[in-house]
Amino acid sequence: MENNSRLNGAGRILIFILVSFPVFGTSHTRHGDGTILRASVGCSQPNSTFLICRNRQLRGLQTILNVARVSFENVTGEHLDAKNIEHLRWTNSGIVDIKKAIVNPQSLITLDLTSNNVTKLQDYYFQQYTNLKEMNLSYNAIDDLPRYVFVNQSLRILALAHNSLQAIPFQVFAPMQRLQILDISYNHIVAILDHFFKFNKHIELLALNNNKIAKLTSNALADLSDLRTLDLSHNSIKSISKGLFDSLKNLKYLNLANNPLTNVPSGTFRGLTNLRELNLSGNKLMHFTFGLLHFSPELTSLTLDDTHIEELHNSELLGIAKLETLRIRNNKQLREIENYVFADTPRLKELDISGNALTFLPISLANLTTLKRLNISDNPWACDCRMYWFAPWAEEKRHHDLILSDLSCGPYAYPNDMLPTLNHLNCTGPRLNYKTPTKQYRLKSDALLECRYTANPPPSITWVTPSREVFHWNPDPAIPDIFEKHAHAHDALMIPIRVIPPRIQVLDNGTLLIKNVTRKDCGRYTCYASNPIANLTENVLLHIDPTDWNNVRIMSLIVGLQCATAFLALTLFIQLIRYLIRRFGIFNNFCSFCKRDRVSPRARQIYAMLDNIEQYKSQQLERLRDNYTQQVNRIKENCAQQMEWIQNSYQTQTKHLKDFRDIGSQHLSTLRGQYCDQVKKVRDYSTTQLNWVRENYVFQRNKIRKFSAHKVLQLRETYKYQQQTLNKVLENLPSLYFENCRAGTCGRAESLVFDPNDVESIDVYLKAKIEKLANLEEVTNTDITQSRQSLYYTPTERSLGSRILSPGDPPIEVFINHITSRPMGLPPFVDGPSTSHETITSNGTNRSSLKTSHSTEELLAKNSSCDIQLSTSLPELSVGDVVEDASKRHETAL
Ligand SMILES: *[C@@H]1O[C@H](CO)[C@@H](O)[C@H](O)[C@H]1NC(C)=O
Ligand SMILES: *[C@@H]1O[C@H](CO)[C@@H](O)[C@H](O)[C@H]1NC(C)=O
Ligand SMILES: *[C@@H]1O[C@H](CO)[C@@H](O)[C@H](O)[C@H]1NC(C)=O
Ligand SMILES: *[C@@H]1O[C@H](CO)[C@@H](O)[C@H](O)[C@H]1NC(C)=O
Ligand SMILES: *[C@@H]1O[C@H](CO)[C@@H](O)[C@H](O)[C@H]1NC(C)=O
Ligand SMILES: *[C@@H]1O[C@H](CO)[C@@H](O)[C@H](O)[C@H]1NC(C)=O
Ligand SMILES: *[C@@H]1O[C@H](CO)[C@@H](O)[C@H](O)[C@H]1NC(C)=O
Ligand SMILES: *[C@@H]1O[C@H](CO)[C@@H](O)[C@H](O)[C@H]1NC(C)=O
Ligand SMILES: *[C@@H]1O[C@H](CO)[C@@H](O)[C@H](O)[C@H]1NC(C)=O
Repeated sequence: MENNSRLNGAGRILIFILVSFPVFGTSHTRHGDGTILRASVGCSQPNSTFLICRNRQLRGLQTILNVARVSFENVTGEHLDAKNIEHLRWTNSGIVDIKKAIVNPQSLITLDLTSNNVTKLQDYYFQQYTNLKEMNLSYNAIDDLPRYVFVNQSLRILALAHNSLQAIPFQVFAPMQRLQILDISYNHIVAILDHFFKFNKHIELLALNNNKIAKLTSNALADLSDLRTLDLSHNSIKSISKGLFDSLKNLKYLNLANNPLTNVPSGTFRGLTNLRELNLSGNKLMHFTFGLLHFSPELTSLTLDDTHIEELHNSELLGIAKLETLRIRNNKQLREIENYVFADTPRLKELDISGNALTFLPISLANLTTLKRLNISDNPWACDCRMYWFAPWAEEKRHHDLILSDLSCGPYAYPNDMLPTLNHLNCTGPRLNYKTPTKQYRLKSDALLECRYTANPPPSITWVTPSREVFHWNPDPAIPDIFEKHAHAHDALMIPIRVIPPRIQVLDNGTLLIKNVTRKDCGRYTCYASNPIANLTENVLLHIDPTDWNNVRIMSLIVGLQCATAFLALTLFIQLIRYLIRRFGIFNNFCSFCKRDRVSPRARQIYAMLDNIEQYKSQQLERLRDNYTQQVNRIKENCAQQMEWIQNSYQTQTKHLKDFRDIGSQHLSTLRGQYCDQVKKVRDYSTTQLNWVRENYVFQRNKIRKFSAHKVLQLRETYKYQQQTLNKVLENLPSLYFENCRAGTCGRAESLVFDPNDVESIDVYLKAKIEKLANLEEVTNTDITQSRQSLYYTPTERSLGSRILSPGDPPIEVFINHITSRPMGLPPFVDGPSTSHETITSNGTNRSSLKTSHSTEELLAKNSSCDIQLSTSLPELSVGDVVEDASKRHETAL
């Protein structure tokens, strides 16, 4: 059995050559001379064309050598004349020099010189062998092939096995383009270079086994498209170059046995679509590469002896459904063939898994209906429930013709005891005995979850937590369970959990212990029991005590509240600081320009509006004041004119009276009385006029102020309204707002809405304006020097009254002339008369006017005594005062 199946290249070739002799010979047989032959010792002639001789000298045989086929063994001597011989077989005869030994080889078709002492071949050595088709030089001592040794040869078969070849010249076989079989096995060849066989495209069998080839480069075999059989066994190939076999479309038999291969990449055999037999035995493979044989669906025989494979996994034999012979022998590390491996090879006829370290048979073996031979000997079979199916299967009737090896349990059990042992196993699937009832656990307490099963064998238990963490427990680690390859604890992604010390763990008896229960632990726990007979799933629920839930809820509320409060306080604090900064304008002084930059366009607009109102107001007030002064001047001019006129008439009358002395002093006194009357009237009239004008002025001014204050208020109201609508809009668009917030643009959405800062600042601005307006009167009354911004002043009733009523004031003379002589005056500040005089005197023009008035005063003082009376009796007449005031005020304003 083994001999048949072994791919022994050399053996094949020898058989081939031996068998082929008669085939070539039949067409060329000639009649020989039998009379002489009969006398020769050690020879025989089966028929007229075939001569066989053994253990004798060559001498004396020459005369009978006119047969076509000759076979010599241990026939020593020189100079064999092969003139008529077509098929010469001359072995074990110590031939050293072929050229000397065989003369006239022209008719030779086959030549077999195995087991001689041929050591040297020379260039053009076989030039005379013009008809030679087959040559076997195996088992000689050839250590060199000269480059031109095969020139002009057209061999079909060349065997050079068991020589001492080391390096062979590049493409040394190129002349033999018809070469079909080349055997150079059992030499010391180290390398076959790329395209070595470029001109030997028809090689069908190539034996390179038992050499010292360490590496075959990718194109070493690239040209051998007709290759059927390739033997590379017993070399030193450590790795297979990518694409080495890609062009070998017709390869059927490949032997890679006994190389130091550790890995065969999955694409290695992708070109071998016609592969029938593969031998990978004796390599150092650690695993059988998944998908290695996907491209070779015709494979019928696979041999994997003596490797380092530890497990044969499901699907690793996928794609070779036509496999009939599988030999996996003597793999001392092979512990397991997974349960479904043989599901991929349903046509298996011969299975040999002897000599491994297997403990149980894969259950998919039961489905191999075409199986004829099964060898499972020499494995440490455990004969436990994992193989409970085997006894009934082996005893089935249709398996009776199956050739079974001995069936023994373990290495030391009694031979052929397996079936009885298995038959008495009492295997049962898991049945639930007890599981932890649903309970409520306090937070931070420990929880024990338990599932108790009865089963034979005891089931492994797998716990799955609500967070998809998985914990495996195997009662007897000696018997691996189906989860053996999983980590002891792993998460949903099969990543091992390594928490030390573990919070959740499986105790020694399969109970799940959860320490320090948290809220995340509550939920459904699955305990999954599994033994070779059956699987069973149960659920255990873990609940958290509701009081704990409530506590948690309350705690959450409290924490939430605290957070909210803290946030509120923080916000308020920040707002307060901002308000203070605004209120006292701390930053205004430092960086007025940056502040202005910060003002949004909208705020600027409002500021402009307010400024407009202010401007309008000031314009109006200016005009009003102009009008007022004009009117006052007109009245004063009027009054002065009248006064002058009265004075003139009085002076002329007095002159006349003085001229006519006789009229006397009585007349003069009446005249003076008349004069005083008239003056008084004029003054009264002027005063009422002035009062009226002033009242009008005050009224007008107030109107203007009220108007602008009203405008500002209105503006503020509209602004507030806008702000409110804006807030409403913001409330109705919470998502947008919050998205903005999340995006970090919160509070900076100038383009969209009003800046709340603007709203406030404008508010503050408006308030300041209104306050200013409201306080204006009081401020002007109490301390006018401070409010320098208030350009517009008119004496109020109070100021007038105080002026009039103040008793400490020195009596002021009424100088009507003042009105005329003085330049256009404006209301002065309400100050002491002394200051007013000082200011006036400091002014050059006023001084000159004073001088002129002084002259008139003198005139008046000289001419009339009613002046003093007038000034004293009419202190309330304050036209001059008013005028003075006005002028002073004008100066200050300027
Ligand atoms: C002669 O004998 C050989 C070996 O027995 C055989 O192969 C061959 O066919 C025979 N030839 C003839 C002509 O009978
Ligand atoms: C070879 O033949 C010689 C006689 O010629 C004989 O003495 C010798 O023992 C033979 N050797 C073998 C191995 O048969
Ligand atoms: C041939 O080789 C064998 C062994 O290889 C040796 O014993 C024998 O002496 C050799 N004969 C000759 C003639 O060299
Ligand atoms: C055996 O074959 C049957 C039917 O073909 C299939 O249902 C079953 O899964 C197979 N069992 C195994 C272990 O391959
Ligand atoms: C198998 O075990 C069960 C209980 O464990 C028992 O009732 C039954 O008889 C046993 N069967 C055999 C064949 O021993
Ligand atoms: C497993 O062990 C735990 C703690 O040692 C114990 O509480 C529990 O009852 C045991 N369960 C079984 C099934 O023995
Ligand atoms: C329980 O867990 C919490 C947080 O997970 C930890 O602060 C506490 O120390 C743990 N308690 C115990 C007894 O392990
Ligand atoms: C138990 O479940 C595993 C995993 O699903 C499966 O591989 C195994 O075949 C099942 N065993 C039985 C007896 O059904
Ligand atoms: C001054 O005001 C009066 C009435 O208020 C008006 O009639 C007069 O036209 C005004 N004069 C000027 C110059 O505005």
